[in-house]
Amino acid sequence: MRSKIVVCDLKEEALSETVKQLNERNIPCVACACDVTDEDSFAKVLDKAEQTFGCADILVNNAGITRMQNFFDVGKKDFRDIFEINVFGLFKCTQMFAERLKKTGKNGSVVNLSSNGAKVTYADQVHYCASKASVMNMTQCMADCLVPYGVNVNAVCPGAVDTPMLRACMVATEKDSGGKITVADCEKTWDPKQLGGRLIQPEEIGRVVAFLCSPAGALIRGQAISVDAGTTRF
Ligand SMILES: NC(=O)c1ccc[n+]([C@@H]2O[C@H](COP(=O)([O-])OP(=O)(O)OC[C@H]3O[C@@H](n4cnc5c(N)ncnc54)[C@H](O)[C@@H]3O)[C@@H](O)[C@H]2O)c1
Repeated sequence: MRSKIVVCDLKEEALSETVKQLNERNIPCVACACDVTDEDSFAKVLDKAEQTFGCADILVNNAGITRMQNFFDVGKKDFRDIFEINVFGLFKCTQMFAERLKKTGKNGSVVNLSSNGAKVTYADQVHYCASKASVMNMTQCMADCLVPYGVNVNAVCPGAVDTPMLRACMVATEKDSGGKITVADCEKTWDPKQLGGRLIQPEEIGRVVAFLCSPAGALIRGQAISVDAGTTRF
């Protein structure tokens, strides 16, 4: 499947790095700075897609944040900050995307980035796990809501993927443990059994996302697919 891509992110460096990688693979793309919690900002993304390639027919809700925090340190603001992006932003972007797509009568796909933390517990990320469980349930609701408009909705639930978010979690773990658990320990032990101590690579998640948006994924609907080498089996 050859897609034309509008790359969106809050951060300039994340945008330019992704565009660079797509250019190297000759995949048509444009970048659009965007805050998924700001409706005007996301409307500009949809406008840019329309002007450049035609109405967007695939949405990958990838933006997300977490915080490593002891249960007793978690405040309402931490919960709100995480839900603002991971849950409310994801919902609003999907609603706005589907609103435009339904006017065209074209079919489409949405893939939500949940986490295997929606299915198992990460004790130091109680708010994050709750947000990703919300994404999982919302995926099922959205799948039902958007069936009449030919829009297929699924979620993927990755394990530990080697990205800046995971690296920040490792650094926080080292700091919080007073150096007893090092970044090198985390690298070896997060998702160890299944992958022989290596971390999942972002491309390994991307390929599953692409599959779900392809014709082969058409009958997979409202699912939250674990992509964690067997850590979770439900
Ligand atoms: N890395 C993992 O181990 C892992 C595991 C399970 C699920 N996930 C999920 O996968 C998705 C991608 O995570 P990642 O590991 O690449 O994280 P990351 O922090 O490396 O990348 C997330 C990107 O989202 C952007 N972002 C944050 N807030 C935004 C906002 N308001 N508007 C627009 N962009 C915003 C950030 O600038 C960043 O570039 C997230 O939803 C995350 O929760 C990651």
